[in-house]
Amino acid sequence: MRETEKTYFITTYGCQMNEHDSERLAGMLEAEGYAKADAPGDASLVLFNTCCIRENADNKLYGNLGHMKAIKDVRPDMKLVVGGCLAQKDKAAIQKRAPWVDVVLGTHNLASLPRLLEESNSGPAFEILEQTEVFPSALPSRRNSPWHAWVSISIGCNNSCTFCIVPAVRGNEVSRRLGDIVGEVEELVDDGVVEVTLLGQNVNSYGRDLDGTPMFSRLLRSLDDIEGLERVRFTSPHPKDFRADTIAAMAECDVVCEHIHLPVQAGSDRVLKRMKRAYTRRKYLEKVALVRDAIPDVSISTDIIVGFPGETESEFAETLTLVSEARYDSAYTFQYSPRPMTEAADMDGHLPKEVVQERFERLIRLQDAISLERNLRHVATTQEVIVEGASKKDATRLTGRTRHNKLVHFPSDGARDGSFRTVRITGAHAHYLEGELVEGRRESPRVRRRVSLPLVGAAAPQGRAGC
Ligand code: 5AD
Ligand code: SF4
Repeated sequence: MRETEKTYFITTYGCQMNEHDSERLAGMLEAEGYAKADAPGDASLVLFNTCCIRENADNKLYGNLGHMKAIKDVRPDMKLVVGGCLAQKDKAAIQKRAPWVDVVLGTHNLASLPRLLEESNSGPAFEILEQTEVFPSALPSRRNSPWHAWVSISIGCNNSCTFCIVPAVRGNEVSRRLGDIVGEVEELVDDGVVEVTLLGQNVNSYGRDLDGTPMFSRLLRSLDDIEGLERVRFTSPHPKDFRADTIAAMAECDVVCEHIHLPVQAGSDRVLKRMKRAYTRRKYLEKVALVRDAIPDVSISTDIIVGFPGETESEFAETLTLVSEARYDSAYTFQYSPRPMTEAADMDGHLPKEVVQERFERLIRLQDAISLERNLRHVATTQEVIVEGASKKDATRLTGRTRHNKLVHFPSDGARDGSFRTVRITGAHAHYLEGELVEGRRESPRVRRRVSLPLVGAAAPQGRAGC
């Protein structure tokens, strides 16, 4: 095959860490002479970067591999690659179930992709390692957005939440050196990036394996000093490790957005204990109160699991009362899904699907009402947004995101993606705001200090659950 015919298409499932890894996989493929294809049907290499956090993610992959078999039958030269968490979990089973796959690689060896592709010229190539050899941030990257970047600060997780498969597939926590992270962000800013999202399974314990003490607040303060960086987001802090020094850094650093994702998972102490979350409902709500005191207008989102094994109706009702007390801006809600290699999968008391579904719907109804109430507080305020593209429903409107992580739809003035705009909020719905463009004062202290605004084209970062 000539160099110019080498094209790739990557489909990414799951969390932001997978988005980040896919950008590295794309970077390595481009370094090998591949160009990005517009659709999988056109590509000479198709890669699935997989997720296994819930069972439906497994089913999706095997369904897609079935479709790819038909394409491979017609185009046997096409390379089919499976990477990521599900590959790490299923190991050799992928090649058993889908022997037409050319390359399988896990979460710890992204860097092996070029070698495995080479090896696959003489038969299927398979490699899953149990520990990381190269930190993925050291690999070349092909970012989806010129103005936003994912920045990995740690990989793996040392917690043992009983529902969660992540520690089994992502391994123990390894932090990146602070200087390396700051250096990467400085380079990104030089390259036109104005917003970064720091990624780790438990960002608050960042640095514990380096210095014996968490260093996340130090990291936030170091990033605040970077000229040209406008917004820092992070996901996710674990509530048990979320401490006063981080809250103070969030409040004091202009660059850190007024939004925090603080996954609660459940509102009952007995369920939290069986989940091994290492905090109580009271302790969690105390942290919410501390954040609200320090950052008065902060927006808070969360993750909640409904139907954990043994969850009674009254324990579920405690999740509802917690949601009412915490007054989240938004919540990612999940029905419990048993995962291999997790303690909860072997617990008694798995609940019937209909019971879980009914509770799930009640939770969504409650949260939607609270989300609307939280969004209404922005009406008549002026907000800074970064434009993320044309509105999906109406091409005459643009969609932007506020520092509070709210989507705002407003009439287009032709602004390119990545531009800053000021909007007055004119309407609120549970999942988005409406606004009109205004000139003049911007809400962000950071933006008030800025001299010139970057105008670049871009793809938008997607909101996702954390843990
Ligand atoms: N079942 C349902 N939801 C889960 N999550 C993690 N594991 C499971 C599971 N087995 C959810 C948690 C976590 C988010 C990323 O996914 O809420 O915070
Ligand atoms: Fe780690 Fe998050 Fe999974 Fe808990 S839910 S084990 S903190 S990745």
